[in-house]
Amino acid sequence: WWSGVQMGPPDAILGVTEAFKRDTNPNKINLGVGAYRDDNGKPYVLPCVRKAEDQLRAKNLDKEYSPISGTPEFCKHSIELALSENSDVIKNGLNATVQGISGTGSLRVGAAFLNGFFPGNKVVYLPTPSWGNHTPIFKHAGLDVKSYKYYDAKTCGLDFQGALDDISKMPEKSIILLHACAHNPTGVDPNQEQWAELSQLVKKRNLYVFFDMAYQGFATGSVDNDAFAVRQFIKDGHQICLAQSYAKNMGLYGERAGAFTVVGPSKEEADRVMSQLKILIRALYSNPPINGARIVTEILSDPKLKSDWLQEVKGMADRIISVRTKLRDNLKKEGSSRNWEHITNQIGMFCFTGMIPEQVEKLIKEHSVYLTKDGRISMAGVTSKNVEYLAHAMHEVTK
Ligand code: LMR
Repeated sequence: WWSGVQMGPPDAILGVTEAFKRDTNPNKINLGVGAYRDDNGKPYVLPCVRKAEDQLRAKNLDKEYSPISGTPEFCKHSIELALSENSDVIKNGLNATVQGISGTGSLRVGAAFLNGFFPGNKVVYLPTPSWGNHTPIFKHAGLDVKSYKYYDAKTCGLDFQGALDDISKMPEKSIILLHACAHNPTGVDPNQEQWAELSQLVKKRNLYVFFDMAYQGFATGSVDNDAFAVRQFIKDGHQICLAQSYAKNMGLYGERAGAFTVVGPSKEEADRVMSQLKILIRALYSNPPINGARIVTEILSDPKLKSDWLQEVKGMADRIISVRTKLRDNLKKEGSSRNWEHITNQIGMFCFTGMIPEQVEKLIKEHSVYLTKDGRISMAGVTSKNVEYLAHAMHEVTK
């Protein structure tokens, strides 16, 4: 039956981990996938997650199916985290929020909903570059994918004018995807004034906004600061949709907990949207996994656990910010004459180093430093122990 099936390429991000695992060099470093590591390079389970698990175990809960849309408590806490507890949207029931299977699954449900019901152009405009999985997710759901300027390779920063120009040219009633914070892969975000300007332009163009918020808390260490863009757009009257993930900010990668929300003008509309989301989810995977969502709910509904979590997510963000400085300092010590300012200017989990594919190839082959081909490194894999080795290797391939 399958003789016509051709071998596919390894995943651009997760395939890097497979190659890393095969390497026997004891100094090898995996800076491919965006997964947080502690300063010993080990995966990190947040203490608040361990406590939540203990509390849940003591409750001796059953393993019944979740509701199709996830539990109402999980959905309520998730949208409150994004929009704030006193958001009028929530008070007035204007949101249809469902649990998704982490960020990817939430985007995929959103994409299926847009493909089925969006009344405008079924085209999603992605920033250039965007997370490698965005294009397949939207295409797989049947939407067309186009792009808008975002990153300026000359400055390793934001091409704000380019973005404004491209957005001005988008046909009305198209969909624009915005990374809410800690843009992946570049680590380059608009500042607050620029977000406000983007919001006005997007409104003027009558575009529909899909926010992907996979890193709330990870960019600045504050979940409220990192939700600025989403809240600004809501304040400006946009009816957005939103994908959230707890993979990074609660370290729940394999638990697959996330949420998808559509914000509308009325409760009546939100109810109709919710009914269709449930029909889509039922056909896709029936109902979501319960364990990660229970952990999230336990943390967000317990004031002590929540305050522990806010500190722990800040701890992760702060460690990343501190290794950015260490990497820059070590490159300087190595004698690199290149401008590496962007390492500390960029934020969140990633640094878009500006290294070209040949340099990336050398870094992998000659130094066993693994990263994606586009030159992105996951700062979360850099530690005080491997930063000198990394700086040396980066200098060797870029001098
Ligand atoms: C990444 O970009 O490395 C993460 O978002 C993990 C993934 O699924 O790609």
